[in-house]
Order: sequence, then structure tokens, then C-alpha cells
Amino acid sequence: MDTRPLAVITGGSSGIGLALARRLASRHWRLALVARGEERLHAAAASLPVETSAHICDVGDRDAVQALAADLLELGGGRIEMLVNNAGIPGRSGALDVDPAVARAVMDVNYHGMVQLTRLLWPALVAARGRVINVCSVAGTVALAQSAPYSASKHAALAWSRALAAAAPAEGVRVLTVNPGPVPTAAFPQADLLAHPLARRVVISDEACASAIVRGLERRRSEIFVPEWWRFAGVLQAVAPTAFGRAAARARRA
Ligand SMILES: NC(=O)c1ccc[n+]([C@@H]2O[C@H](COP(=O)([O-])OP(=O)(O)OC[C@H]3O[C@@H](n4cnc5c(N)ncnc54)[C@H](OP(=O)(O)O)[C@@H]3O)[C@@H](O)[C@H]2O)c1
Repeated sequence: MDTRPLAVITGGSSGIGLALARRLASRHWRLALVARGEERLHAAAASLPVETSAHICDVGDRDAVQALAADLLELGGGRIEMLVNNAGIPGRSGALDVDPAVARAVMDVNYHGMVQLTRLLWPALVAARGRVINVCSVAGTVALAQSAPYSASKHAALAWSRALAAAAPAEGVRVLTVNPGPVPTAAFPQADLLAHPLARRVVISDEACASAIVRGLERRRSEIFVPEWWRFAGVLQAVAPTAFGRAAARARRA
């Protein structure tokens, strides 16, 4: 029986999730990666130097998540040391022009998937006195005019993650909430920011983001912003909502 700790990473086939998988692999974790696209998922699993299982699942699909959880519980033998809720999709539209079906789909993936999978794996996380890492976003603390469904889903995810972090230690589980700023990845290319000579300075790589997550884990932090100064964006929106709203009306789509 493999006794190395098991980390489950949703959205582990690309971007921040795959960069984190590489770091955990070098620290001798065994990995279970979850995503929808088969080819990219298998390529990601094969690229890692440790035993890695690949699980095809849409985390926005309740039945699929139920089946995924059963597979993961069996794989871990009732113990899962780490769950990284990282799978996410953009939602680029305004508050009123959003297609309600799209708003629901974004919420299903970015919020409900996180809640459902964590609940189903909870007994195994408790048994292992494990860690949950929820990849939320700076968009969970501020709202831009042109990414209403995404911001709404990340506000929900952030609030839920903070509530979980408050409750989990009583059961021996610790939670790390991660709020990245812009990171150029497959689904979030950040082309507008990268095209701008000044704005591109706020963009960081998926590798830098994964390093910050590992540092957050090692320092037993409960919530990080990546980079940390993004924390002030939420403060600004809270203390100066009118001025922030004017700026947000002009800002790019996320
Ligand atoms: N990049 C940024 O600027 C940024 C900033 C703040 C927060 N974040 C958050 O970081 C997380 C990771 O995103 P990323 O930037 O690394 O993007 P990415 O490179 O596009 O990776 C997204 C990952 O999630 C998977 N995924 C998407 N929808 C899924 C679903 N319904 N079920 C299962 N897996 C799904 C993707 O694989 P498949 O498509 O094959 O399913 C892929 O593995 C997301 O939660 C995102 O909201 C990103």
C-alpha cells in the first residue's frame, strides 16, 4: 500500500493547478488530478515524476462529482491529506446582459463544485487531519462591471471558504484560502493587461502563484493574496465604493 500523502487537485491539468502539482510532486506527495479535458489531463499526469491518477469530471455536474468522490475515497483508503479546490472558469459579461444559464454554470463550477466535493471528502480529510486549499480570487473581494458572473461566483466561494476556515480546525482540518490577482493561463489569458506597458506589471506567472501557495501552506496561513498587496483592492472597494465603482465601470473584462 502506498503510504505517501494524497493530494487531490481539481483543475490540475493546467495553469495554477498544474504548477502546484509540480511543487507537491517534488515534495513527495502522490497526486490525483481532476479536469474535464481528457487529453490535457492525461498529458499533465504523465508529466509529473510521482504516481498521479487522472480523473475526468466536470465539478459543476452534481452526479459526476458524486462518482468522483467515491473514486477518490477508495484511492485514499478513507484518508485524503489535501484537497485543492482550484477548478474554475471565467464569466465575462455584465450584470444585466448575462445569460442566466451562463451565470448558473459559472456558479456551479466556481462555487457549488467546491462545496459539494469538500463535503463528500470531509470524513477522509478529518481522518487524515488534512488541508483544504480553496483557490478563490481577488475578484471575490471586488467587482468589475464586465465580469459580473465571475465576481459573483468568487464572492460566494470566498465567503464559503472563510466560513469553512473558521469551523474546520475544530475537526482537525486547516483551510488555506488563496486569492490570486491576474495570472496568464489558458482560460484567463490576461491579454489586455499584458498588452499594456504599465498594467502588465501586475501580472504574475502560474509558477509564482504556486510558490506563494506552498509558502502559505508552510507558514500555516489561513488566507493569502497573491501578491499580498491585492488585499488592498477589497479594502478600497469597501471604504470608497462610489469611486471604486466608477473605476470598475471602465476596467477590462475578467
Ligand atoms: N488566471 C487568473 O488570472 C486567475 C486569477 C484569480 C483566480 N484564478 C482562479 O484560479 C483557478 C485556476 O485557473 P487557472 O488560471 O489556472 O486557469 P486554467 O489554466 O485555464 O486552468 C483551469 C483548470 O480547471 C479545469 N476546469 C475548468 N472547468 C472545470 C470543470 N467544470 N470541472 C473540472 N475541471 C475544470 C481546467 O481543465 P478542463 O478545462 O479540461 O476541465 C483546467 O485544468 C480558477 O479557479 C480561477 O478562477 C485565476
